Amino acid sequence: MEFPQPAFYIFKCEQQNPPQMPKPSCVNGQTQQLFNYMAGKLMEKGIMQTVTPIRTSCLGRCQMGPVMMVEPGHHMYVGMNEEKIDRVIEEHILGGKPVEEYLIPKEFWAEPISPEKAKELSGM
Ligand code: FES
Repeated sequence: MEFPQPAFYIFKCEQQNPPQMPKPSCVNGQTQQLFNYMAGKLMEKGIMQTVTPIRTSCLGRCQMGPVMMVEPGHHMYVGMNEEKIDRVIEEHILGGKPVEEYLIPKEFWAEPISPEKAKELSGM
């Protein structure tokens, strides 16, 4: 028997820093429902078999939160809210076309660092 793999993974940052922390976090009183909202939408659309939603910790772009990454493709969405999640599900997941206007600006999401470059940066 074969077990099919999902076509997409959605990583939603669920980091919640204490209010006194200087750095913002993706989850606060206004945004704590977003993961469940997204999962509910996937269920409502009948696509949970092909999209795996994953709660993750900090994705490193805290100033632009709430953030959510769609794989494959390293599509990093920023400033998420319920309306934006609806559009990402409709247009990116179901329609196959990423919602460009919600993607992180290129200057904050340059090319991936290769293992060789990472070693060099670490002085190894
Ligand atoms: S807290 Fe969400 S990206 Fe850092």
